Amino acid sequence: MLSQTLIEATKAGAAQLVHFFDKEFTISNKEGVNNLVTEADHASEQAIFSVIRQQFPNHYLLSEETGALVQDSSVKWIIDPIDGTVNFANGIPLCCVSIGVEQDGQMILGAVYNPFMNEFFFAERGKGATLNGKPIHVSSQEEVLKSCLVTGFPYTYLDMPNGPLEVFERLIRKGIPVRRLGSAAIDLCWVAAGRFDGFYEHKLQAWDSAAGFLMVEEAGGTITDFEGNYYSPYQPHLVATNGKIHEELLRWIQGEFKL
Ligand code: IPD
Ligand code: CA
Ligand code: CA
Repeated sequence: MLSQTLIEATKAGAAQLVHFFDKEFTISNKEGVNNLVTEADHASEQAIFSVIRQQFPNHYLLSEETGALVQDSSVKWIIDPIDGTVNFANGIPLCCVSIGVEQDGQMILGAVYNPFMNEFFFAERGKGATLNGKPIHVSSQEEVLKSCLVTGFPYTYLDMPNGPLEVFERLIRKGIPVRRLGSAAIDLCWVAAGRFDGFYEHKLQAWDSAAGFLMVEEAGGTITDFEGNYYSPYQPHLVATNGKIHEELLRWIQGEFKL
């Protein structure tokens, strides 16, 4: 029942992305000039809420554009109505709806849908991860130097040791391909599908990674914070890999490998 509602809610949100894509829609700014929210983000969020509320009116909802709603429940839906809003606003079809479902503090279900590529990723704790119904697995690459990586950058510059640009420079100077798609949820799903060997990002919110983090784990990958601790979507730093390059990528991020 939960998983059926999750699938319906994700598709209802994505229908709004398709509806507004390439049409006129209002765009406004949040903190930072390029942190955008569009009419489609709000429409997707409302469509998702409406599906969940019909089945589970008392569940906890945590969603990017609205915040926390109905907090007295052991089931929490963590919703990003559009992940990749800047792409969406520019007509770049690399964006998705991302929803994770947490029960008693543990992520149990995740769905990420990019309707423009018709890619529906789904994960259930203990039951694996799928892309359009077919099981997916992480890659088998064993060396960072031979890896294809992906990252993202925050909307406001983060000045910190081993910050986003430092780590990026370190990897790029060694000729390692590091992509930047603009959707953390898709980045995570593409690690789960074996397209990327690893993904790291310095400042994410729970809704960016709630679904994708379960996808990586269920596809056989590893996901931690920058120190190698078990990942929680409620802290900002994330490293997600195929598992085989994880320890080495952590050392690249921590600055053990110098330029
Ligand atoms: C953003 C995307 C992007 C990441 C940013 C996120 P939004 O989410 O996931 O890839 O680099 O940190 O905020 O704003 O498009 O939902
Ligand atoms: Ca997001
Ligand atoms: Ca968003």
